[in-house]
Amino acid sequence: METWDAIRARRNVRTYRPDPVSDTDLHRIAEAGWRAPSAGNRQHWDFIIVTDREQLRELSTVWRGAAHIAGAAAAIGMVIPQYDDDRGRLISQYDLGQATFAMMVAAADLGIGSGHSAVGDQEAARKILGVPEDHDVAYLLGIGYPADRPLKPIVKPNRRPIDEVIRRDHW
Ligand SMILES: Cc1cc2nc3c(=O)[nH]c(=O)nc-3n(C[C@H](O)[C@H](O)[C@H](O)COP(=O)(O)O)c2cc1C
Repeated sequence: METWDAIRARRNVRTYRPDPVSDTDLHRIAEAGWRAPSAGNRQHWDFIIVTDREQLRELSTVWRGAAHIAGAAAAIGMVIPQYDDDRGRLISQYDLGQATFAMMVAAADLGIGSGHSAVGDQEAARKILGVPEDHDVAYLLGIGYPADRPLKPIVKPNRRPIDEVIRRDHW
């Protein structure tokens, strides 16, 4: 897909075909996150690729919005260190957002769907993924081929009117 098409085709996919996603494609999706920019290039993130069905089922219980992870071909756990200061927390979330979006667009480029989930139960998420106590599993990204309709550019996305959002020169 062209970059512009991948950006327009990406959407949250929460129901997946049972087909696996190849290791090559999973690695490419994670590599897109690895290549993402971060403040001062600090790269305070780790990405854990999960394909084990039982682990995916367990991960689907860590947040009320994580149910789709159970049926995904894979998930990527986005892990960040814990911060004592607000600025560290804020920047790490910004950095992670960039990495996440890069992964989603890389997936869309391959015709593969992806869907965010937040994490509520940190203790459970850490245990499932073997993450140390001083890190958080900030988000999960479910990955798989869309069960409903293939990814193609969305003509009318569910967004606020574009002229209300994109301004020129002034608020
Ligand atoms: C920070 C963040 C957290 C999100 N958490 C969840 C979640 O826990 N579960 C879920 O199903 N979707 C989650 N989403 C997906 C959003 O609901 C979705 O991106 C939004 O409705 C726009 O839809 P689209 O991605 O299909 O364009 C999250 C998205 C972001 C950016």
